[in-house]
Amino acid sequence: MNTTDRNLRAVHLPADWRPSSWRERTALQLPAYPDADALATVLSELHGLPPLVTSWEILTLKQQLAEAQEGKRFLLQGGDCAENFTDCSSEVISNRLKVLLQMSLVLVHGLRLPVVRVGRFAGQYAKPRSADLETRDGVTLPSYRGDMVNAPEFTLEARTPEPRRMVKAHARSAMTMNFVRSLIDGGFADLHHPEYWDLGWVGHSPLADDYRRMVAGIGDAVRFMETLSGAEVHNLNRVDFYTSHEALLLPYEEALTRQVPRQWGWFNLSTHFPWIGMRTAAVDGAHTEYFRGIRNPIAIKIGPSVTPEQLLRLIDVLNPDDEPGRLSLIHRMGAAHVADKLPTLLDAIKRDGRRVLWICDPMHGNTESTSNGYKTRRFANIRSELERSFELHAAAGTRLGGVHLELTGEDVTECTGGARDLTDIDLERAYRSSVDPRLNYEQALETAMLIVRKQAQLAAPV
Ligand code: PEP
Ligand code: CO
Repeated sequence: MNTTDRNLRAVHLPADWRPSSWRERTALQLPAYPDADALATVLSELHGLPPLVTSWEILTLKQQLAEAQEGKRFLLQGGDCAENFTDCSSEVISNRLKVLLQMSLVLVHGLRLPVVRVGRFAGQYAKPRSADLETRDGVTLPSYRGDMVNAPEFTLEARTPEPRRMVKAHARSAMTMNFVRSLIDGGFADLHHPEYWDLGWVGHSPLADDYRRMVAGIGDAVRFMETLSGAEVHNLNRVDFYTSHEALLLPYEEALTRQVPRQWGWFNLSTHFPWIGMRTAAVDGAHTEYFRGIRNPIAIKIGPSVTPEQLLRLIDVLNPDDEPGRLSLIHRMGAAHVADKLPTLLDAIKRDGRRVLWICDPMHGNTESTSNGYKTRRFANIRSELERSFELHAAAGTRLGGVHLELTGEDVTECTGGARDLTDIDLERAYRSSVDPRLNYEQALETAMLIVRKQAQLAAPV
């Protein structure tokens, strides 16, 4: 009997829950669809379409997250802030996969731990917004809420929520998943060939030498093992890759929530690892109600205004059986607040003996606007929040077991700073995000390297 079987016996389906019971609660951040019949037609079509993931993949990930909670794995979660329909292309998908594989190589090598790889993709199409409406030159229209809901152009037609976009998002997610799975099954992730993942920066970056040394070291280790065993090491050519998105658009999520043969309960089969965003994490809100009943591993984003009492109540509702691997908490406090906000939360959860995986999102608390009108994040703040988080966990006796990042495999200029020291002026060169600024491939790699350095520093005897 494996631990999953043992764990499953201890958990139960809440008796008063249904995939639609969230409809009886207050739902924030949902679009107002003008045509109820069109919405109903789309939802019934989605109900009949195949799922995007399987229950056994979901349960395997839950087991791996349980191991991460015990300090035996590290989680790398990353991808776009918002995917969009036009970026569902071979190049964008494979470049994002490349940078995530490179980062995980750096982390595996430096932390000496297996890495759980989770993409923010194949479904990250719906966005929470700070205002329902946007006004420009006296004209007021609904805010853009992601390609799954409406389009970004500032016209009434583009901004009116269109239910058919959910079917398109499902199809784009399936195409993305299909391509990622084929690349991985075809040997793209093979550790014998890390050169498959090379991106433009490897030729000219200040980080390139460090990275190449690491790759050469891994190549030597692989060849050494193969010489010893007299055979090729086959499990090095396959890695697991999981998907995640903010499960914000509840009508869509409900339509993909299914029962499966030989399993009890309900699974969200649109993704392996959905999360609740900071703006929709009220304990009595619709999103918490929906998440409470699904068997997926889930995460909650925690911002600086959450109190220990609120967090403990959320955990009571979302993981009442203290099931291993079930719940991850992604803190996103901002570099300026992390030192005063995080420790009380860490202490409260530790004191109460709750089982969670702590993950740091050093992006969302550090967004600012530049004088030339760009939404950006400064690499120094991202770095500072991440490093401080490792220190604060070490001081509290808790473990920071993962990182959640917005990144891309493209050479964009959206966050300033980093090894190439991008300035506010550089943002004009290649700013492509439709929502939040992402780390470019080089800044993403640099982040993986700084995690390794920080961990080594904390582990070293003083
Ligand atoms: C996001 O992850 O893109 C996001 C909106 O995050 P948060 O809910 O933490 O603000
Ligand atoms: Co974002």
